[in-house]
Amino acid sequence: MGRSTRWREIWERRSVTPEQVDHTMVSLADLIAADGFDTGFGDITAEAWTDFVARTCATFDLVAGDSLFEVGCGAGAFLYLPYLAGISVGGADYSAALVDTAKRAMPDGTFLVQDANAIDVGEQVDVILAFSVFHYFDGLDYARSVLGRMCAKARRGVAILDVPDAASADDALAYRHELTGGAEKYAERYAGLEHQSYDRDWMREALEGFGMVDVRIESQSIEDYRNGQYRFNAYGSQPGAVTAGRMNGSARN
Ligand SMILES: C[S@@+](CC[C@H](N)C(=O)[O-])C[C@H]1O[C@@H](n2cnc3c(N)ncnc32)[C@H](O)[C@@H]1O
Repeated sequence: MGRSTRWREIWERRSVTPEQVDHTMVSLADLIAADGFDTGFGDITAEAWTDFVARTCATFDLVAGDSLFEVGCGAGAFLYLPYLAGISVGGADYSAALVDTAKRAMPDGTFLVQDANAIDVGEQVDVILAFSVFHYFDGLDYARSVLGRMCAKARRGVAILDVPDAASADDALAYRHELTGGAEKYAERYAGLEHQSYDRDWMREALEGFGMVDVRIESQSIEDYRNGQYRFNAYGSQPGAVTAGRMNGSARN
C-alpha cells in the first residue's frame, strides 16, 4: 500500500462528534484537534493558532467580503476565524468525514470532497492557501500539479504553509523518533507514513514558474509548535495584484 493511500485512510477516520459540530457549539479547539494538531508531535494552542491565522490574513490584507479557499482544509480549523470575520470561505479535502465537519461548522462556506490536484480553477478566489498538507502528497510531480492549480485559481495570492523543509528533514525525523521511543518503534508504528519534504529553492522556482511574483519563503513561527522548527511558509502574489506592494515586509514571522 502506498504512502498516500495510508495517509488517506488516516484522515478519513478523523472528525469531531456530531453533537460538537452544531456550529453554535463548535470551538476552534475542536477543529484544531480534528485537523491533527493534538497528536503530541505538533500541538498548537487556540491562541497561537488565532495569532498565526490573523497574521496570514493580514499578509494578504484579507477583509470581510474577500474570498479565501483552502486546499486540504480538513475540518476547517484555518478557515473558521476568517469565516467568523465575514470572509467568504471554501475548501477541498479528500476526507469526507472532515469535510462534513467543516460544512457543519461553517454552513455558509463551500466545501468539497476532492483531491488537491482536482480543484476547479475555473472559479477564482482572492487568496488560496494550503496549511500543513503538502507533506502528505505522493511526490514532487503531484505537488507541482497542485501548485499550478492553486496559482491559476488565485486572483491575488497563494500561501503554501507549514511545509517540511528538506534542509532539516533528518532533524525532523530524529525528533519524531525521540517522541515515539526510538527509530524501531517509530518504524513499526508509522511504516508507510513518511512525509514528503521540499527544498525552499524548489518551492520558489515552482511558484515563479507558475507566474507568481514577490515570492517569499520564511521559517515557520507559531508559538510552542514544535514541528514548526522544521517547516517553512511560502507566499506569492499575482503580478499587479492589489496586495503585491503591501505584502512585502507585512508578515511578522
Ligand atoms: C494536518 S491536516 C491540516 C488540515 C487543515 N489544512 C488545517 O490547517 O487545519 C492535513 C489535511 O490534508 C488533507 N489531505 C492530505 N492529502 C490530500 C490530498 N492529496 N488531497 C486532498 N486533501 C488532502 C487531509 O485529509 C487532512 O485534512
